[in-house]
Amino acid sequence: MSGHNVWTHKGTFLLAAVGSAVGLGNLWRFPYLTGENGGGAFILVYALTIFAVGIPILIAEIMLGRTSRQSPIMGMRHLTKTHQTSRAWETIGWLGAASAFLILSFYSVVAGWSLHYTWQMLSGSLAGADAETINAGFSHLLASPGLMTLYHTLFIALSALIVGLGIHKGIEAGLRIIMPALFVILLVVLGYSVVNGDIGAAARFLFTFNIADLSLEGWLQAMGQSFFTLSLGMGAIMAYGAYMSSDASLTRTALSVAFVDTAVALVAGLAIFALVFGAGLETGQGPGLMFVTLPMAFAEMPFGALVGGVFFILVLGAALSSSISLIEPVAAFLVERFDLTRPQAVTIMVIASWTLGLLTVVSFNVWAEGTIFHALFGRSAFEFIELLTNIFMPLGGLLIALFAGWALTQSEVAKELGGHDTWFRVWRFLVRFIAPAAVAFVFLRTLPQVEGYWIPAIGAVVIVGAFAAGRTFMANSARP
Ligand code: TRP
Repeated sequence: MSGHNVWTHKGTFLLAAVGSAVGLGNLWRFPYLTGENGGGAFILVYALTIFAVGIPILIAEIMLGRTSRQSPIMGMRHLTKTHQTSRAWETIGWLGAASAFLILSFYSVVAGWSLHYTWQMLSGSLAGADAETINAGFSHLLASPGLMTLYHTLFIALSALIVGLGIHKGIEAGLRIIMPALFVILLVVLGYSVVNGDIGAAARFLFTFNIADLSLEGWLQAMGQSFFTLSLGMGAIMAYGAYMSSDASLTRTALSVAFVDTAVALVAGLAIFALVFGAGLETGQGPGLMFVTLPMAFAEMPFGALVGGVFFILVLGAALSSSISLIEPVAAFLVERFDLTRPQAVTIMVIASWTLGLLTVVSFNVWAEGTIFHALFGRSAFEFIELLTNIFMPLGGLLIALFAGWALTQSEVAKELGGHDTWFRVWRFLVRFIAPAAVAFVFLRTLPQVEGYWIPAIGAVVIVGAFAAGRTFMANSARP
């Protein structure tokens, strides 16, 4: 489409996609999941999934964005018309918008915790603190709805400001400052952990594997994590892809995104575990690894409060560059569909998501139990929202793989991939068969966690998806 915005530089898409991918998933979720699942074996499965499933779907998602040159919802609407496929494929856009909205709501709350810790570290109040004090500090934060709401509000407002300024003056300009700073800080933290921690123990923990250590649950979490960390299946990558220069190589870009994202997760894992082992602490602390265990390690190390503060600034920046990519697809849709100005669209999206985020805030305190969510779904509102996204994300990825694999024509895809014949065949095989099978496997294993009410609803979505896929296949099998 003429007149559609394109990034100022050929390389900006890469910067933006890396910004989206590198986030709490790398610095917070990856280390704690690895710690809980015994280290190397988890990483092996994670790496395999990134390769065989993550990268092909990443390519598919960028491709859908770049060929449609619109926001995910409008883009899919456009593609279903030009490819004479079922309107049901628009589900990709709607699922993406819904997931972005849901994820932003809790992502902002967790990012808000880092804001708290940045402040705590830099003000020196955690320097030399003992384990009990640090534990009590985290419990105190979780028990204070007011404090959490304050941080949540600050974080989401900052994200909104950046997106509200537009893709050039806001997103591009912001990322050009944030991203290089993140890499510098990451290296500083790594250096610090080499000097003060036990990097050898960390490397042994991360890179020696005994595949028998890994439970089926661990396999599934590794696969789920590879989706989450690449920001797949949610329209974020598609929305950014819509602004990608036609000259940039899709394959090379996707490989770079996956490589940098994985490298950041591994370096963060090395640094964090080196500090944790160095301080003689436990690896399997779950979500508290970054907010409790790590501050304990920093508390007893030289300049720990300062480096700890810098570390939490890293977490904040990484979360910010991801949260802006959660706002963009929905904001772009509101602009295209309802002719709103960008600031209006961003405000609507962010206020709605902020309000939903209050449910996450209270899930840790006043609504920690006995609510309607517990009665209906056996979990807190936050856990329920997280579960929904864990369902929507693979579902979105599955549909993206199927649409790109079966509905896009051979000539179109060949053009997007730059005409490498063998690679085209490999990619197409992966998105047509391997990725859908792998995702379906993860997905079916998630279902038993879901209470009775949701099975029919999800079943319906799967049937619609399968039906749409079937029709599309019929319509396209005759075309070149
Ligand atoms: N990839 C981000 C991270 O690792 C989180 C994330 C998941 C995300 N899905 C997303 C970010 C969609 C933006 C859009 O922290």
